[in-house]
Amino acid sequence: MHPTNKMKVSEIISSHVLVIGSGGAGVRAAIEASAYGECVLVSKTIAGKGGCTIMAEGGYNAVLNCNDKTDDHFADTMKGGAFLNNPELVRTLVTESPDRIRDLISWGAVFDVTGECSIAQRPFGGQCFPRTCFAGDRTGHEMMITLMDRLATTKVRICHEVTIISLLCENGRVIGAAGLNRNGDLMAFLADAVVMATGGGTRVYDISTNSTSGTGDGYAMGYRAGAQLIDMEQVQFHPTGAVYPWDARGRLVTEAVRGEGGVLKNAQGERFMTKYDPQRMELSTRDVVARAAATEIREGRGTPHGGVWLDISHRSSEDIETRLPTMLEQFLMFGVDIRKEPMEVAPTAHHIMGGLQIDAECRTSVPGLFACGEVAGGVHGANRLGGNALAETQVFGRRAGESAGKEQTHERCLSDSAIQQVITTLFEFSQGDTPSHEVRSRLQEAMWNGAGIFRNKDALEHTLSEIDSLDRVRMKATVPGEYAECSIVKNMLTTARLIVISALTREESRGAHVRTDIMQDWDNTSSPFSHTHISQQGVSIERRESA
Ligand code: FUM
Repeated sequence: MHPTNKMKVSEIISSHVLVIGSGGAGVRAAIEASAYGECVLVSKTIAGKGGCTIMAEGGYNAVLNCNDKTDDHFADTMKGGAFLNNPELVRTLVTESPDRIRDLISWGAVFDVTGECSIAQRPFGGQCFPRTCFAGDRTGHEMMITLMDRLATTKVRICHEVTIISLLCENGRVIGAAGLNRNGDLMAFLADAVVMATGGGTRVYDISTNSTSGTGDGYAMGYRAGAQLIDMEQVQFHPTGAVYPWDARGRLVTEAVRGEGGVLKNAQGERFMTKYDPQRMELSTRDVVARAAATEIREGRGTPHGGVWLDISHRSSEDIETRLPTMLEQFLMFGVDIRKEPMEVAPTAHHIMGGLQIDAECRTSVPGLFACGEVAGGVHGANRLGGNALAETQVFGRRAGESAGKEQTHERCLSDSAIQQVITTLFEFSQGDTPSHEVRSRLQEAMWNGAGIFRNKDALEHTLSEIDSLDRVRMKATVPGEYAECSIVKNMLTTARLIVISALTREESRGAHVRTDIMQDWDNTSSPFSHTHISQQGVSIERRESA
């Protein structure tokens, strides 16, 4: 297909609920929504194989032990999030995550167990009690195969390898979405309710743990449809990504290594966390550990490939083989035996804590549109605790599916006005002159250099002007698959802009967002600021009444 301005929709698929995204949140939402009527799930990859859940290593946080408390999980999450979290969403997360892991177990998921046959739990950063459940270091994989098996028992229709490029709106309501299949054919999906579950977008950075599908499509499409987003400046840098070999740069080295006793050292052999958080050390929150590692590297105490050392070799070979098999295998491939020698690691972009603003029923600010999982903002505030994301996918995936399922039916009909903007944009790609990958890599470099762990006004403004100039580049699609690629890169540009504008708006350091150009005399509890809000109406920062 080569679009002309008279391009036609090749297929219209209509259902009660449309779920966009096939990670943990999307599949959980589809399972739930299927109880209420026809449900279609659209995946940009082969459903269940892409996205971040399947790559998630470390674990799932749930209060399961009689010595642990839901209130403690709540308090840890709020404190870890620098008190920027929406308390109602946090309360929902901590209250429902135990039942959602029980769902998974009843559907066949196998989590590690203790000698007494209860679910094993390991410590992750920022926890006052070890509450991270795990399946070795392949927790997300275990969850996804279980969810896909369960999905297969429902009547959900799955559309694989269709890239959703735009939401369709009519009279201020989301009525569906437009997508391109592998052949570049334009498809329209109409639904009474749409669940956005497209995951995160840290692929806008040069170095990222995300799968290639983490391009921020959901933030950009929601924004264009008129939705409100919050705290988009809050981007988590995981402290430990691989630095070497080059093509593995950024790949996740799970926090479970530190949970199992791994220690961080600089090139001089100093256990540097003693300087940054002597109480919690390597199990401090990610914002603190990532800044510590970045500081050591910046100040010249980094390893030969520009990282720090992470060492677990003091644990027995048997423990490493059984509790961290993926890490062992991955580093053996790189020529490093972690049973005997340390890993080289450095911070890597991992998770966007901000996102589409939702209420506890997963409603966004636009009628007809629901959101769950990483694309939604508010649960994690300014810093997410490791292990809370997998729990979030299940708690809010189920809620989004239920809310969307309960949405009233509407007349489903595709008007010319709803689809015309999509066709015009595709036509523009056929007339462009620059390959999309050039724009993508320039964007990733600009974001890494100007909107990373340490930020300042000048660098952010410079990044914004680079985004603006990249947005003016006319990307060219020559073969069918490139139309989806150009649309994705456009979404990456929008997501990056939302991050940078929000980062300029938050004139304080809070959680993962550090402004080196701003002196402040308040801490997280006394900050005069609350959420940043960004939408087509503009950007603003809420001021806290009590501050
Ligand atoms: O380090 C990890 O295993 C990541 C876990 C998470 O982001 O929740």
